[in-house]
Amino acid sequence: MPSTLIVNARLVNEGREFDADLRIEDGRIAKIDSQIAARPEDRVIEAGGRWLLPGMIDDQVHFREPGLTHKGDIASESAAAVAGGLTSFMDMPNTNPPTLDSAALEAKYALAKGRAWGNYGFYHGASNDNLEAIRALDPKAAPGIKVFMGASTGNMLVDNPETLDAIFREAPTPIITHCEDTPTIDANLAAFQAKYGDALTAEMHPDIRSREACIKSTRLAISLARKHGTRLHVLHISTADELALFDPGPLFQADGRRKRITAETCVHFLRFDRGDYARLGNFIKCNPAIKDASDREALIKALAEGGTIDVLATDHAPHTLEEKMKPYAQAPSGLPLVQYALVAALELVHEGKLSRAQVVKKFAHAPAQLFDVSQRGFLREGYWADLVLVEDEPFTVRREDVLSKCGWSPFEGTTFRSRVAATWVNGRMVWNGEQLLGTPNGQRLEFDR
Ligand code: DOR
Repeated sequence: MPSTLIVNARLVNEGREFDADLRIEDGRIAKIDSQIAARPEDRVIEAGGRWLLPGMIDDQVHFREPGLTHKGDIASESAAAVAGGLTSFMDMPNTNPPTLDSAALEAKYALAKGRAWGNYGFYHGASNDNLEAIRALDPKAAPGIKVFMGASTGNMLVDNPETLDAIFREAPTPIITHCEDTPTIDANLAAFQAKYGDALTAEMHPDIRSREACIKSTRLAISLARKHGTRLHVLHISTADELALFDPGPLFQADGRRKRITAETCVHFLRFDRGDYARLGNFIKCNPAIKDASDREALIKALAEGGTIDVLATDHAPHTLEEKMKPYAQAPSGLPLVQYALVAALELVHEGKLSRAQVVKKFAHAPAQLFDVSQRGFLREGYWADLVLVEDEPFTVRREDVLSKCGWSPFEGTTFRSRVAATWVNGRMVWNGEQLLGTPNGQRLEFDR
């Protein structure tokens, strides 16, 4: 592979912004320096002062393979991801069939080979009866084990208390949880149905999938993790109330030990709030629900300051337009996000609420550290050259530019002040700001554990 030299970039890495050049050789970052002289074999890219970031690592996506490929597939959704500056993804097990044993897991890795535009890891799922498979899981084979402690898309609810306890006791990898208490939600839904009959609307979603449901379930997950010393990562925190349940300290303590209980929030909880249901309805219906403006502000603050929220991700969960146009009760939950997640997060930088370094920390460094991802997530010599070049040039999201198979975005019509000018995966430019280049170049993620 010829070498690439990116010159006059403004790097954002490990808490710093600095001017530098960066050379890529054999798929990896060979050198970072204030000035690197070009060699004849270098393909020189003039960055012109644009921002060069490590590619984002999304620890929560639903790319729908196998079995739900009318909504999206690994090729289409990973294409959208790299166009958005996301170079690695960790995909959820609520597919058809669900990923409940090593055979299903390896079948998914086989599906991704040669078709994924970004680097890929697949979670192992949990159910009320797959404890043996969980015990047998090779910790290097998956980023973690996903436990639905609340029912959502797919029938993967784990609600048997003994099974839940055993999973937390015996998991050989980090556990990641969807925390919403299903009995609370069922009771809320019954009360709304009694009052409104069939006339339920998306505006009611945050009261049906209520904050109490989130708090109760998150408390349970944390108590189980404390009891067993489990490494627990609670996904998609959506309420201000849950923030108080987590350790506000950094991911690594002074003695080098990593926090064992961590939290993630998602881009849509930072961009939308209850006031947006009137305009967007089912298009922002997701689980957990987007809640109040005060929750949104508290989540942004938690991301900006300290370590209460360790990771930013998407929960990219595409459904077709046809599915989303159904009445509230039948419309599935979830929205496509990967293509505009980074620029949506950077909008908070333009608003003065978050620093670029903090976006990179939560969306690239932290997921790599938390899941022991080998040699990715940082601009470091010797690491894989997964890079994104960001230009502060406004653009407006149009439906015709959406690469996700579902063909729509909750951000249509939104003007963002930054755009993704280029993305490199394993040292090769796969997105030039306008189109995909070449063929998919993603590799299976490796976990150093
Ligand atoms: O909104 C959601 N959509 N939440 C989930 O937990 C699942 C996801 C999906 O797969 O559609």
